[in-house]
Amino acid sequence: MTLSWLSLIVSFILFTTSISGHQLYTPTLSLHREDILRDPGWAISDPITNDFQTFFFNQTLDHFNYRPESYTTFKQRYFINSNYWGGANSSAPIFVYLGAESPLDRAPTVIGFLTDNAAQFKALLVYIEHRYYGESIPLGMSFEEALKDANVRGYFSSAQALADYAAIIMSVKEERNASKSPVIVVGGSYGGMLASWFRLKYPHVALGALASSSPILYFVNIIPQDAYFSVVTNDFKEASETCYQTIADSWSEIDRVAQEPNGTSYLSKTFQTCRPLGDGDQLKGYLKSMYAVAAQYNRPPTYPVTMICNGIDGTNATENGILSKIAAGVVAYNGGATCYVNPPVNVSQTALGWPWQTCSEMVIPIGITNNSMFQSDPFILNRFLDECNSSYGVEPRPHWITTYYGGHDIELILRRFGSNIIFSNGLQDPWSSAGVLKNISDSVVAVYTKKGSHCLDILTQNQTDPDWLIKQRKTEVEIIEGWISQYYYDLHAFKQ
Ligand SMILES: *[C@@H]1O[C@H](CO)[C@@H](O)[C@H](O)[C@H]1NC(C)=O
Ligand SMILES: *[C@@H]1O[C@H](CO)[C@@H](O)[C@H](O)[C@H]1NC(C)=O
Ligand SMILES: *[C@@H]1O[C@H](CO)[C@@H](O)[C@H](O)[C@H]1NC(C)=O
Ligand SMILES: *[C@@H]1O[C@H](CO)[C@@H](O)[C@H](O)[C@H]1NC(C)=O
Ligand SMILES: *[C@@H]1O[C@H](CO)[C@@H](O)[C@H](O)[C@H]1NC(C)=O
Ligand SMILES: *[C@@H]1O[C@H](CO)[C@@H](O)[C@H](O)[C@H]1NC(C)=O
Ligand SMILES: *[C@@H]1O[C@H](CO)[C@@H](O)[C@H](O)[C@H]1NC(C)=O
Ligand SMILES: *[C@@H]1O[C@H](CO)[C@@H](O)[C@H](O)[C@H]1NC(C)=O
Ligand SMILES: *[C@@H]1O[C@H](CO)[C@@H](O)[C@H](O)[C@H]1NC(C)=O
Ligand SMILES: *[C@@H]1O[C@H](CO)[C@@H](O)[C@H](O)[C@H]1NC(C)=O
Repeated sequence: MTLSWLSLIVSFILFTTSISGHQLYTPTLSLHREDILRDPGWAISDPITNDFQTFFFNQTLDHFNYRPESYTTFKQRYFINSNYWGGANSSAPIFVYLGAESPLDRAPTVIGFLTDNAAQFKALLVYIEHRYYGESIPLGMSFEEALKDANVRGYFSSAQALADYAAIIMSVKEERNASKSPVIVVGGSYGGMLASWFRLKYPHVALGALASSSPILYFVNIIPQDAYFSVVTNDFKEASETCYQTIADSWSEIDRVAQEPNGTSYLSKTFQTCRPLGDGDQLKGYLKSMYAVAAQYNRPPTYPVTMICNGIDGTNATENGILSKIAAGVVAYNGGATCYVNPPVNVSQTALGWPWQTCSEMVIPIGITNNSMFQSDPFILNRFLDECNSSYGVEPRPHWITTYYGGHDIELILRRFGSNIIFSNGLQDPWSSAGVLKNISDSVVAVYTKKGSHCLDILTQNQTDPDWLIKQRKTEVEIIEGWISQYYYDLHAFKQ
């Protein structure tokens, strides 16, 4: 994980914030696939991508209405790799990656769980792009045009996306006479939520789901709003108590300095910002997102939380006191940059699309109250609703996700309903606080690691992977093998 990669994510997230604007910083869910690829570790030329063929499906714009415009179709992109497939005659399995809130282009390279296990399972691999992202935008519009149009963006929802996936999977199976091939869906983050919901809503289409780092419990008030930032705080505390304390003390110092005459230019100088800071809040917003992103992607071999803390702890508080330590943390994290905090960035589709998704159905109330090294910044629903109304002219429906997919009392509910879902997590990831961490039944299971980070288990294998990660993936593979052999047993029995 290189520094430029990290700085890119941070700036990217700050941009998201300025768009949605309701809080200093809203963590995003994404895998940051595009950004991951800035990492030389990932940028290796990958022969696997040559094995994928690109297809476009004539997708129905609106699966749930029968108005004339509902029948409009658009081209939805998907990739297929059939090199490993055992074929329809042996009902060999189909692994499907459910795209999330970004273009699909590099997913086959980055989301290695499918490619890494294809040979063993003799699986057909299908990667499907989420509607409205990448090249899967309705009505021949650009992404920006589609998002600006109140009628067109109305079809940009998770339920439509799941129906898209079902339609494409059925079509892929039909074309290959593979009606009996079991389908396993895989997704991470928001895509992980989609994967688990897909198994619950479309059990006849998918035999099972691997839902990586899917925070399906971060809705309404199922978990406390400060869960995310409590984990961020704990990650730093675990890495270094003094680092944690320095960060906790820094906010009031930034506030104090910012109020002095020339205070913001002093801060700009101390932090070597790319452009002069407008106020202290801008710096605090950046730092908050930097710590959160470091925790979310706190993974081997570099462990960004440790990198930041080494910077903070390794600097003597000289004349600048605590701020020079914090600035050293920023440099340690982004080292080699010419300037920090507010570099120029291009706006990604994720940064534009996800705010719409949160303002319509994905209302995720993250705030900071107690239990943290941050200043208090509670989530205020009415403020959020007002801002969504002024950005999009819609009022979010905070209760819709739990109404449509569930979430409350999940252990009680799924105990005797639903099967074949793996909820995987890494506990370093602040989103794991909203994940399923207990085994609910024999086949609705939680597989987590203490040291893992966001979506780590579904990323492409690397020879530097630690044993606990190898073990987690092996467990997941064994569980999926179990589902498939059970299925073949049933299939055989029903043929008799
Ligand atoms: C993958 O392994 C190489 C060394 O074999 C290492 O340089 C690189 O950082 C690793 N990448 C990731 C993402 O772990
Ligand atoms: C999609 O629709 C177009 C126009 O109606 C048609 O030419 C094309 O063959 C269709 N593609 C597929 C994959 O069905
Ligand atoms: C699949 O089975 C059918 C019918 O038994 C047979 O005609 C066909 O050759 C088989 N295909 C392959 C690839 O084995
Ligand atoms: C599927 O089955 C039909 C009818 O048996 C046959 O005509 C067609 O060639 C088969 N397609 C494939 C891809 O095997
Ligand atoms: C403070 O700002 C004023 C006006 O912008 C400038 O003249 C002065 O030199 C600055 N002082 C310091 C210590 O930077
Ligand atoms: C910090 O200062 C102390 C006393 O001046 C010195 O012993 C120590 O080596 C310095 N540490 C660093 C990291 O520069
Ligand atoms: C933004 O995109 C343009 C055009 O693709 C590119 O030339 C430029 O380097 C990008 N800027 C940044 C900061 O990534
Ligand atoms: C913070 O914690 C204290 C005691 O633990 C509690 O009384 C208070 O209500 C909490 N504040 C918030 C905003 O949650
Ligand atoms: C949404 O904004 C419009 C226009 O500003 C306003 O008339 C309306 O009352 C707002 N709706 C809500 C629920 O706040
Ligand atoms: C849940 O069950 C799986 C499969 O038996 C096991 O690997 C995993 O450790 C269990 N998880 C928990 C949290 O007990």
